Amino acid sequence: MFEMHINHGLQGIVALETDISQVNGTTGTLEYRGYDIHDLATHSSFEEVTYLFLYKHLPTRLELTKFCDELSTQRDLPDKIVNVLHQLPSFTHPSVIYRTAISCLGTLDPQLKVISPDENLRKAKDLIAKTPTIIAYHQNIRNHSPITRPRDDLNHAANMLWMLNGIEPESIAVKALDLALVLHAEHTLNASTFAARISASTLSDMYACVVAATGTLFGPLHGGASQQVINMLRTLEGKDQAALTHWVDDKLSHGEKIMGFGHRVYKTMDPRAFELRKMAQQLDELTGKTWVARSDQLADIVFQKKGLYPNVDFYAGSVYANLGIPDDQFINMFTMSRIVGWTTHMLDQYNNNKLIRPLQKYCGDENRSYTHLDNR
Ligand code: COA
Repeated sequence: MFEMHINHGLQGIVALETDISQVNGTTGTLEYRGYDIHDLATHSSFEEVTYLFLYKHLPTRLELTKFCDELSTQRDLPDKIVNVLHQLPSFTHPSVIYRTAISCLGTLDPQLKVISPDENLRKAKDLIAKTPTIIAYHQNIRNHSPITRPRDDLNHAANMLWMLNGIEPESIAVKALDLALVLHAEHTLNASTFAARISASTLSDMYACVVAATGTLFGPLHGGASQQVINMLRTLEGKDQAALTHWVDDKLSHGEKIMGFGHRVYKTMDPRAFELRKMAQQLDELTGKTWVARSDQLADIVFQKKGLYPNVDFYAGSVYANLGIPDDQFINMFTMSRIVGWTTHMLDQYNNNKLIRPLQKYCGDENRSYTHLDNR
């Protein structure tokens, strides 16, 4: 048997070449197709960033207008999907509802199994356009509210807030959600994106890849973290410095993870957390909430005790909570953005496909003598 070196969790393994995005975990930088995330967060909309990923360059005004029109006309859902959303239980987590609806959407696509650059791009845009509608319609249904149809005069973020609440969103709320969407759109080979690529590498259909990615995002170590963060911050409300320190000590001494901290790649401040913190602070000032003050206090203690920095999920929850988004929909806000990264990686995988199939090192018994069922 040849010697095998194992990288648990595939840590440190370079699995592929890409021109999609780049993270430097030491300097805390993130680039989308070579553009710094702070520049994009400050100057670009979610639609611009989406265009950048799908077409590999930033759009001109004309290209952007045409692209926004294209997305907005694809927003509404087939009646069959709306019927499915009505049938699903109200207690089911919205991320599970979303992935079920995506699977159903695939059943309606006559081109489901066609993998070609044009078809892949069409499906990517359709999935990006319809994702907020699935999420919002389900929210309408579980609120026992009438379905709020998408509007084609609003951008992606504004339309989402419109569909969720049925009222014209304030411009600061639109700006905040748009920023969160820009910041979550893509992040190299994170677990859900990797799941999407693994699925695409078998030449499975794009809907199946999104289902695989959404299921992978769902875990609390990945996209499920922001909901856990807000629960944690609620639990810690009113605690003074000593009580917070005691709480952190207790968690760490029991080997428990504190949600919203640590990262596989960043060993310094996550640049997305920096941008989200600024926005959360702006929203706190408007809503009179104290999410950021409480978060900062906790972040200082965790850093002193364990040297860990906050990650993207730490301040994202504070932004969403200030926007009145229900806690269990936080992960779907992540999904409505990361669908861009997932689909871009799928297109990349289909274009340069090589089945993703690592090895394992067997460490169980060998050469066991077989005993028939009757004799065991
Ligand atoms: N709270 C407490 N300790 C943490 C921690 C956290 N959030 N994140 C990492 N650590 C500690 C581990 O306990 C371990 O300590 P040890 O060496 O003393 O045993 C060390 O840091 C390395 O952690 P590990 O889990 O092995 O790193 P990883 O690269 O496999 O995991 C995450 C990365 C993101 C899964 C991990 O940091 C985590 O679970 N964070 C909380 C969940 C979260 O916020 N997820 C969203 C990520 S964007």
